[in-house]
Formats: sequence, C-alpha cells, structure tokens
Amino acid sequence: MSAEVEKVVMPPAPAPVIAIDGPSGSGKGTIAHRLASLLGFHVLDSGSLYRLLALAAQHHGVALDNEAALQVLAGHLDVQFQQNAAGEAVIILEGEDVTNVIRTEEMGRSASIVAALPAVRTALLHRQQAFREQPGLVADGRDMGTVVFPDACLKIFLTASAEARAERRYKQLLEKGFSASLPALVDDIRSRDNRDINRPVAPLKAADDAIVLDSTQLGIDAVMERVMREIGQLPELKRYLRNGSAA
Ligand code: DC
Repeated sequence: MSAEVEKVVMPPAPAPVIAIDGPSGSGKGTIAHRLASLLGFHVLDSGSLYRLLALAAQHHGVALDNEAALQVLAGHLDVQFQQNAAGEAVIILEGEDVTNVIRTEEMGRSASIVAALPAVRTALLHRQQAFREQPGLVADGRDMGTVVFPDACLKIFLTASAEARAERRYKQLLEKGFSASLPALVDDIRSRDNRDINRPVAPLKAADDAIVLDSTQLGIDAVMERVMREIGQLPELKRYLRNGSAA
C-alpha cells in the first residue's frame, strides 16, 4: 500500500505595503514616490481619489454633503492613472486630463469635506486596496496604516508644524507663478487638519505600530535617510532595494 502524499498549495504571500500617513504638506507624497522608485513598487496617492470625487461632484452638480449621491459617484468614478511619454503621472477623469486641476487648494478643501462621509470612505476602500499588486505598494494618505492596509509591513506617520507645511506650500505656489497668502494658507491647513483629525471615521492619526517622524526641522533627504534605515532592518523590504543595500 503506497501512502499518498497530498500536495498543499500555499496561496502566494500578499504584496508588501509601506504605509505613509500624515497631514497635508508633510512631504509624504515625495517620500512615497522616492521609495517606490527605489524599491520598484507601485504607488497609491489615496488623497487623489478624494480630490477626484470632489471634482466629479462639481462636474455633476452634486453637493458636498449629499452622502448618498456621493457614495454612488464614488462607486462609479471613471478614472485612469496613466503615464505620459516623459514618464510623468497623468490622471484622466471621465476622459479629461485633470492632473493639475485636482491639486488646487479648493479641491483639497472639498476633498477633505467629502472624505469625512462614512459612505464615501466605504465606497473607496476596495478601490484603494486594489492597488496592492506585486512586487509591492507604497501607499500615502491619512488612514493607510490604520484602516486600508492595517497589515502594512512598515508604517510611517510623517508630520510637521502647520506653519512649516504652509510655508512649503507657499513656496511651491510662488514657484509655479501663482500668488498666495501665507496666513491664509496656515488657516486653511489648520482647518483641514481639524476636519481630518476629528472626523468619526478613519481620522488622521498614527497607527499604534507606526514610526512617527516630525519633518518640521528635517529636509526631505534627512527624512528619506530615516525611512531607509527602517527598511534596512526589514528583510521583507530590504530585498527589493535595487542595489541590495539600504542607504
Ligand atoms: O493628501 P491630500 O492633501 O491630497 O488629501 C486631500 C484630502 O483627502 C485630505 O484633506 C483628507 C482626504 N484624505 C483622506 O481622508 N484619507 C486619505 N487616505 C487621503 C486623503
């Protein structure tokens, strides 16, 4: 009698995720993109989904407090994330290039308003989780480490004072040729922080197992250095570094 050996096929391990959460202007987008390019990972800029929903609501005449209509709109958002010939990210909403339109202060404000609605967050949850693909994902937002990817293998919470963040935004706007008022930007950032921190669902907060970095006094290179040190201590991430070693 020959003993039959049953083959057990293990499901593949899910792609590793690095979650980078924090308030507006903390530099998390820049860090997320740099990390993704060093590791060869995908990127999720989750804030862009809330900004896209706010813009779609404007296009369709949906009020920012109409939770039921926004839920439907969020479930049917016709969005494509593409790259142009120069390798830059391009976002197409309902056939229109909205890459720059969604980056205005007004869209940031409207995004924060629609993001406070529980039904909207539920409608966008699976769309965000679908970005988790091999070889891995760097996800930036407010609730990446707490709600969307609670099993992320590295969670960074990047913060900075409201004044420092407003000043960075002020410089960016001037460099792009826009006029801006620094006190108005500080006010705007504070009220957006308040709304994001105090909403009942998925508020902006560090996960219990997140590493909190304050970039008020740190340049982006210094923040990258700290994050790379953490990656160097995690074999499941370190192996993806193109040169095999953490900086
Ligand atoms: O990161 P951002 O500034 O593009 O985000 C715009 C708004 O979207 C932000 O004020 C709050 C909301 N947001 C959120 O609630 N949850 C996320 N994961 C990302 C953004």
